[in-house]
Amino acid sequence: MTSRPKLFTGSAPGKVILFGEHAVVYGEPAIAVPLTSLRATATITAAENFSESLMIDAPGIAVQGRLDQLAPDDPLAAAILETMRVLNIYAAPGGTMCIQSTLPAAAGLGSSAAITIAIARALADCIGAELHANSAAQIASAVEHIHHGNSSGIDPTVIAHNSTLYFTKHKDPELISPHSSLKLVIAHSGTTGSTRAAVNAVRLLHNDNPARYSHIFAEIGALTASARQPLSTGQHAQLGQMLNANHKLLQAIGVSTQLLDILCAAALQAGAYGAKLTGAGTGGCMIALVDASCALNVQTALVTAGAKFASITALAPAS
Ligand code: PMV
Repeated sequence: MTSRPKLFTGSAPGKVILFGEHAVVYGEPAIAVPLTSLRATATITAAENFSESLMIDAPGIAVQGRLDQLAPDDPLAAAILETMRVLNIYAAPGGTMCIQSTLPAAAGLGSSAAITIAIARALADCIGAELHANSAAQIASAVEHIHHGNSSGIDPTVIAHNSTLYFTKHKDPELISPHSSLKLVIAHSGTTGSTRAAVNAVRLLHNDNPARYSHIFAEIGALTASARQPLSTGQHAQLGQMLNANHKLLQAIGVSTQLLDILCAAALQAGAYGAKLTGAGTGGCMIALVDASCALNVQTALVTAGAKFASITALAPAS
């Protein structure tokens, strides 16, 4: 009788930043929500013989090969090696690790942190260990640091906790509950944006004129702090104004694009309460806050205005 292959899995959601991207790198608060409809999954099919090598198969990002043949700073290799370090795994399991993700890469939806955390959870499953959310966030932060340089840690934290968070760098994240009536339309502008390049470009601007950019970051931080209450009570109109104001401040630091601006304007025209780019910008996605009654209108308007895709999602309450 042939024994069935042993499967071990891990999965993680994407995320959307509602308020505070970029300013969060400079110590201001940000608010982010998990995006459970788009996810990354890692599945390990363990070989009979654990001493065999680990094959990586990630068709979506065109990576296929043996772990020991990938460069140690390859994002997938880094995720595996960092997890092994944190979980004290001395040898990678033999077999195949298949990585799949429905999250578009480099689009501001947390694809890289979600893939790292899915990998970490699959490896933890493989050795029968429990991976605490803080450890998962720590692993993904270390990997983000290699690839994105000076990052705040917001993506790893919200994805590992799978909860809406009020996040400030180097502080414990606070769980918040968005009102259940809140809905977003998320649209992809069709081009990618490098987090590392965007964060570096903003840093150069800040270095050139610290007073001006510190002031903008403080304004973004103040908006984020004042968005907490309308977010939990579901005051759509007020929140919408705040999203618009946050988008203007992101334009002022140079991370929007013409198409992101066009998409935000199209969403407002179609009845959204507010709209802004989300994540690092310079490409990637935007979000629009909508009422259920106009969600479809806004979705159609975004695609007509040039979005690669637009999808409607509810804001999940804290889990
Ligand atoms: O990688 P993204 O697109 O989710 O952007 C992360 C948010 C930034 O504030 C731009 C960077 C950071 O580390 O907080």
